[in-house]
Amino acid sequence: MGSLSFFFLLVLLHHSHFITANSDLIKKTCKNTNYYDLCLSSLKANASSSKADTRGLAVIMIGVGMANANGTYTYLSSQLLSETNDTIMKKVLKECAYKYSNANDALKDSLVELDLMSFDYASVQLSAAKDYPNACHNAFKRFPGLAYPKELASHEISLERICDVASSIVNVLVW
Ligand SMILES: *[C@@H]1O[C@H](CO)[C@@H](O)[C@H](O)[C@H]1NC(C)=O
Ligand SMILES: *[C@@H]1O[C@H](CO)[C@@H](O)[C@H](O)[C@H]1NC(C)=O
Ligand SMILES: *[C@@H]1O[C@H](CO)[C@@H](O)[C@H](O)[C@H]1NC(C)=O
Repeated sequence: MGSLSFFFLLVLLHHSHFITANSDLIKKTCKNTNYYDLCLSSLKANASSSKADTRGLAVIMIGVGMANANGTYTYLSSQLLSETNDTIMKKVLKECAYKYSNANDALKDSLVELDLMSFDYASVQLSAAKDYPNACHNAFKRFPGLAYPKELASHEISLERICDVASSIVNVLVW
């Protein structure tokens, strides 16, 4: 074997070892969370997870949360424009849009804290982010005649679970 192809074989072996090692890290990390499947599929959907350390995995998960919060904010804003003439519904939708934008801000702040290695503060921001979707749900509960839209309910559950997973990953770093 020429030395060049030997070199490439080494690179290949090293590379595949790397990927296996990280797949183990991802599994181990997700086993520490309450939603293993959600964690695994979210992390594996992002190619950079194959090179990430535990902190990097938290960053990816928080990015998934931000996309969710922002998507929900966009959904609520479009509902506000089109949906209804009902002033109470409009008021509640507006409040909810604000809560999801707060969730997005809290997630962004958690990234800043992770960057500073302030894992406990990152954790506080993630708890805040997890509470905002429920604050929107509570806004609907204040008006018994007002139905909580199904689509919003499913956005609420996803964002709460994503934040919960991100929180569990960060908690590994705290200790
Ligand atoms: C993967 O995660 C990184 C870090 O959060 C992010 O910058 C990137 O946009 C993500 N890629 C995709 C395809 O979502
Ligand atoms: C939210 O999504 C829109 C459209 O995809 C994008 O232009 C905007 O920058 C996003 N905002 C945040 C805060 O991520
Ligand atoms: C809102 O009110 C306008 C004018 O009264 C009416 O034409 C329209 O159909 C209403 N839209 C909805 C979604 O109820």
